[in-house]
Amino acid sequence: MRSENSTIADGPGLADIQQHKKLMTVWSVTFLILFPLLIVLGLLMRANQGEVVKMEYSTFYSLMTLHGLGMAGTLFSIAYAALSYLIATRYVKLSVALGTTVYFLVVAGVVGLAGACLIGKFGAGWYLLYPLPFIGASWPQWSTGLATVSLLVLGAAWLVGSLHVVLALSKKYGGFSRLMGWAYLGRQEPESELPPIALIATVSLIPGILAFLTAAAFLILFLLQLFEPSLSFNALLLKNLLFFFGHTLVNITIYLAVGWVYVLFPEFSGREWKLNRVTVYGWNATFLFILFAYFHHLYMDFAQPLSLQYIGQIASYMSAIPATAVTIFGIIAQVYHAEIRWTATPLAFTLGGMGWVIGGVAAVVDSTIAINKALHNTLWVPAHFHTYMLAGVVLFILGFLYYLASPQESARENTRAGAGFWLFVIGAYGFLAMFYLAGANSIPRRFADYATMGLASSHQIGALLAQIAAAFVVLLLVGILGVFWGLFVRLIARRTPPL
Ligand code: HEM
Repeated sequence: MRSENSTIADGPGLADIQQHKKLMTVWSVTFLILFPLLIVLGLLMRANQGEVVKMEYSTFYSLMTLHGLGMAGTLFSIAYAALSYLIATRYVKLSVALGTTVYFLVVAGVVGLAGACLIGKFGAGWYLLYPLPFIGASWPQWSTGLATVSLLVLGAAWLVGSLHVVLALSKKYGGFSRLMGWAYLGRQEPESELPPIALIATVSLIPGILAFLTAAAFLILFLLQLFEPSLSFNALLLKNLLFFFGHTLVNITIYLAVGWVYVLFPEFSGREWKLNRVTVYGWNATFLFILFAYFHHLYMDFAQPLSLQYIGQIASYMSAIPATAVTIFGIIAQVYHAEIRWTATPLAFTLGGMGWVIGGVAAVVDSTIAINKALHNTLWVPAHFHTYMLAGVVLFILGFLYYLASPQESARENTRAGAGFWLFVIGAYGFLAMFYLAGANSIPRRFADYATMGLASSHQIGALLAQIAAAFVVLLLVGILGVFWGLFVRLIARRTPPL
């Protein structure tokens, strides 16, 4: 267990650490406010699909756009912030000024997006499928412009933040090969140890940097199109660029969150969690294949060369399975016969690992071409990514926040998961089960409601499942508000969080 006042040789000093603590508290409080608001948008959509409320199509799609972009952006931002906090307070000096700039740029981007969607009714979906936003859009041009600029601001913030972390790590641990843990692949033990979080940060943030640059290129083309309507770009190329960005962003959000599980779990199990040859192989495979897994989003684009579709299936398997397998094995090794006190953090981490695996298996099923023919664009797709985000990443975040809000070891040992936590878990799985059932019944995704579906039975099943889902969302919302209130009070009241 680290002592409250320790510093790290050639790492951050105490003054720096205090600043990073403040910054992390600000990130956390922002998350505690933003996340429930985004859930409310999801609840409204499910209620509309269940015909419990009635909204205009344009309203539904602007809410879906804000919810999708907002959730993906919020979870990535907090995942990045928590990873940076753990790195900055334990291993490597990171700039507080830069971290603060990233925070304000992210807030500016979110405010811009909210304005574009809620006031300007921008409703192109997170995927902004070119050239559709420019053809007969039901929203004004300024909102497309504002959404595009806001996304550019977010991308710039994440790009700068990611570059900073990778450069700082490479300065301390050596270049690319050291950060990728290749020293562990030789016959001899490496001369110095590499913390697992450094490897995972590298494996995640370098593809992230490529993804943010790609998004910038895409968004600049969008701005050009906005100012010069006679321009015309290759729609398949733009779809490739956008899905490379979107898929990579969500993927690395999970990995960044997993990074802090490697750091914090040992503090509760009392067992070390170090790198070894197998873990290094696993994460290196992820690094290689993560860049190509997004091809599974283009299975139905028949103009895409067939070879890329096959590569997409193989890369989907290869990027997901090795890292998941080594991490889950690691979690089992942490808890098996360990004298562990099942306080909130290890519980949330273990359940989060479970959600990650369940969603991951559903994703791998969907990325199998033969099955994707049936499940493509059904609610099975939101089912799987909501599983590893809501029942995976969000639980990892809760585990981290419980940790952050309990400054002393004694407090951490007494922080039990209360009724709110369990309401959240039950509500989340109930909500997710309705997505899976709807997917298995071929209910399409991204339908504002199912009233216009040709088959009366599909309309009824879709609406009924949406109603049940909405009831579960109310349950999880009540639960998470209870959890968040407790965390909020402790974060604001406490003086010194753990390092
Ligand atoms: C309880 C929480 C949540 C609720 C109630 C909810 C609800 C919904 C609903 C109803 C849709 C539209 C699905 C469709 O008909 O196609 C949707 C879409 C979406 N959600 Fe959530 N969601 C929740 C949490 C999350 C989380 C944690 C993420 C994190 C990334 C997320 C990301 C998205 C995205 C990206 C879309 C857009 C999907 C698309 O483009 O088709 N949601 N959500």
